[in-house]
Amino acid sequence: MTVPAEFSRMFDFSGKAVCVTGAASGIGRATAELFADLGAMVYVADRAEKLLLEFAAERPDALRAVVFDQSSLPSVEALANTVGDVDVLINNAGVLLYEPLSELNLEDLSRVISINLTGSIALSRLVGEGMLARRQGVIIHTGSQVVYNGAESRSVYAATKAGISQFVKTAALEWGPQGIRVNCVAPGRTLTALNQHLLQEPENYAQALKRIPLGRFGNTKDMANAFAFLASDAAAYITGHTLVVDGGWILP
Ligand SMILES: NC(=O)c1ccc[n+]([C@@H]2O[C@H](COP(=O)([O-])OP(=O)(O)OC[C@H]3O[C@@H](n4cnc5c(N)ncnc54)[C@H](O)[C@@H]3O)[C@@H](O)[C@H]2O)c1
Repeated sequence: MTVPAEFSRMFDFSGKAVCVTGAASGIGRATAELFADLGAMVYVADRAEKLLLEFAAERPDALRAVVFDQSSLPSVEALANTVGDVDVLINNAGVLLYEPLSELNLEDLSRVISINLTGSIALSRLVGEGMLARRQGVIIHTGSQVVYNGAESRSVYAATKAGISQFVKTAALEWGPQGIRVNCVAPGRTLTALNQHLLQEPENYAQALKRIPLGRFGNTKDMANAFAFLASDAAAYITGHTLVVDGGWILP
């Protein structure tokens, strides 16, 4: 059986420019690799300079590194200027804060909001300018499954990710008439640097695993596939949506 040409074309990103933030590791890195495999020129952006440059050096034909810090608005603005007229923005950089609410450090509160919410929204707003002018573009944020249930010790993190899901709906509403689709991928527990410290605690690991109907944690390819789907023409009629990719975690 051969794959119908029309279907292959929907996932062909040749000639397209994509920007992936948080691309030095984990979900962002796997997503950047997949877009490069699908033919795109990919701006990979992150604050982890060494890791990022090493990654970009692996595929100089397809990857261009941009060091930036999402907690700084001038840095976000500089990134938006550098990547210019990208066709797809994967707005993925984020940090986890694991702190019981009663012990919440107020500096951590501001820091996490500034990265996960303020910097992230600012980037979409700025990159969106070029998309509005060209009347086309796709923006996909990274949310989280934690917004669907309570998430112990992750009140601030969950609040920022819930904010992103809500932002995506309104951005999609406002920019849909100009041909821009805005969506969100909400990963379930995915084995990356972000949560390895949690998953390495055997009790926590076993408990979390028991809860997932598909019987395994997510991997970065599971997430990359969801981004590629939402960015592709196969998702041409999908906007304002948060796609949960969690092996069924939120179902019970
Ligand atoms: N891993 C999971 O289980 C999981 C679950 C739900 C959501 N997420 C979300 O997925 C996204 C990617 O996380 P990951 O799991 O790949 O973790 P990760 O730590 O491997 O990747 C996050 C990347 O973001 C970068 N980053 C962090 N702060 C930044 C800043 N201020 N400026 C620029 N870059 C910054 C980091 O350097 C890192 O490369 C995050 O938004 C995270 O909240 C992850």
